[in-house]
Amino acid sequence: RKRVAVLISGRGSNMASLIAAAIDPSFPAEIVGVISNRADARGLEIAGAHSIATQVVSARDYDGREAHDAAIHEALSGMKAEIVCLAGYMRLLSPEFVQKWKGRMINIHPALLPNFRGLDTHARALATGVRVHGCTVHFVTPEMDDGPIIAQAAVPVLISDTEETLGERVLKMEHRLYPRALKLLAEGRARMSNGATVFTNVADESGEIA
Ligand code: GAR
Repeated sequence: RKRVAVLISGRGSNMASLIAAAIDPSFPAEIVGVISNRADARGLEIAGAHSIATQVVSARDYDGREAHDAAIHEALSGMKAEIVCLAGYMRLLSPEFVQKWKGRMINIHPALLPNFRGLDTHARALATGVRVHGCTVHFVTPEMDDGPIIAQAAVPVLISDTEETLGERVLKMEHRLYPRALKLLAEGRARMSNGATVFTNVADESGEIA
């Protein structure tokens, strides 16, 4: 099983979905640690309740982004992590750090990339009037919410939706999508090559419609 560390900043519901998937011994990855840049991240308690090692690496304890990311890298090395999953980690990572984890670090984003990078994706989807929205798991590259796509799932936008109801529907889908994408990476069936995702031995299972 591949050793996976999860980086969080808050609630940790996607982290929890990865932990839940990895409880199954046939899942190809195990969650060996959780790192948060915020001491008050609620996800830390969830990880602790599962006896998963947690570490807080706060930006304010370091002089600049590179130093902060170097400390995170050290924590990851200490955990002997082989794969990093960003799960609501809300800080931009330095190009040096991204380079070190190239092809081994993935992120989940609450929109169908390349639409709606950044924050407030559900409000922007509603304001734009798209009738289909969703979530994306992708390899991390230096640009925010960019990088080769591994898996996406679509959800309908209902006429009656608010930011909250749409966000809840997408979040439920995120919790299904992220473990599937991690599985593809951990099994070596999805890998990053020349800035693209290359799939091997993958049936038509990387897309989903709610
Ligand atoms: C999730 O919706 C995730 O997709 C999003 O933050 C939320 C974290 O929730 N990530 C981003 O917006 C990254 N650009 P969680 O802490 O409960 O997993």
